[in-house]
Amino acid sequence: MIIGSKYYQLTEVDSTNEYIKQMLEASPEGTVVLADVQTAGRGRMGRNWYSPEGGLWMSVLLDHCDNCLMPIAAGVAICEAFRTYDIRLNIKWPNDILLNRKKVAGILIEIVNGRAILGMGINLNVTHFPDELKERASSIFMETKKHLNTQTLYEHLRLATDKYYSLLKEDKIDDLLVKWREHTIMLGQDVRIELPERVIVGKVLDIDRQGALIVMRADYSVEHIIAGDCRLLN
Ligand code: BTN
Repeated sequence: MIIGSKYYQLTEVDSTNEYIKQMLEASPEGTVVLADVQTAGRGRMGRNWYSPEGGLWMSVLLDHCDNCLMPIAAGVAICEAFRTYDIRLNIKWPNDILLNRKKVAGILIEIVNGRAILGMGINLNVTHFPDELKERASSIFMETKKHLNTQTLYEHLRLATDKYYSLLKEDKIDDLLVKWREHTIMLGQDVRIELPERVIVGKVLDIDRQGALIVMRADYSVEHIIAGDCRLLN
C-alpha cells in the first residue's frame, strides 16, 4: 500500500498541505500528514478552510498528477470510507462532499514540482460553524449524531484512497467513473457554473474520461467543463 508509507500526526499546524510542501524533497510518495487543528487551513480558490478540533485534516503526497481526475478518485474514496458506517455521502463536482445537501468535506489538490499534494478536509465531529458557514456547511456528527473515531476513519480512508489512486495510476478510468456516478448528486441536476470569464447554466449529463463535467444548455448545446465554481439549482 502506497498511502501512509510515512505518517505524521500533529497536534496543530498551519496547514497539512503546507507542511508536506516544506518537506517535499525528502518525502516518499504516500507520505501522510494528519493534524488535530489547522490554524491556516486552505480551501480551493484561495479560500480559508475552517479546521477546528474534531475534524480529520489530512494531506497525502502523490507522484501521479492529474488535477481533474484526482478529486474524482479522492471523492469516491471519502464516500466509500463512510459506507463502512452506513453513512451515504454525495459527491458534488468538482471537489465537495455533501450530506443532506450540506458540505461535510472538501478536497484540495496542489501540484508542486511535478508532485501532487492531496488535501482532504472532513468535518467529522465538528460541533459549531461560524455564522457565515452555517447555511452551507455541516459535519458528520451534526447530521447523523454519530461520533466516529478519527483514527479508525483514517484507516478506512487510507485503504479506500489507496484503492482508487491505484485505479487512476493503472488508467482504469472507466471503473473509477462508474463509482463516481454511484456516489454523485450531479447527474440530471440543473447547475450554474462560474468560469473565470463566463457563466454556464444547464443540466448535467455525465462526466468524461478527463474528469470534465458534461453540461447541456437550454439550447441543447453541450460543453465539457474542466473546472469551475458550481452551484446546484434544484
Ligand atoms: C475545499 O473544499 O475548498 C477544499 C478544502 C480542503 C481542506 C483540506 S484540510 C487538509 C488540507 N490542508 C489544507 O490546508 N487544506 C486541505
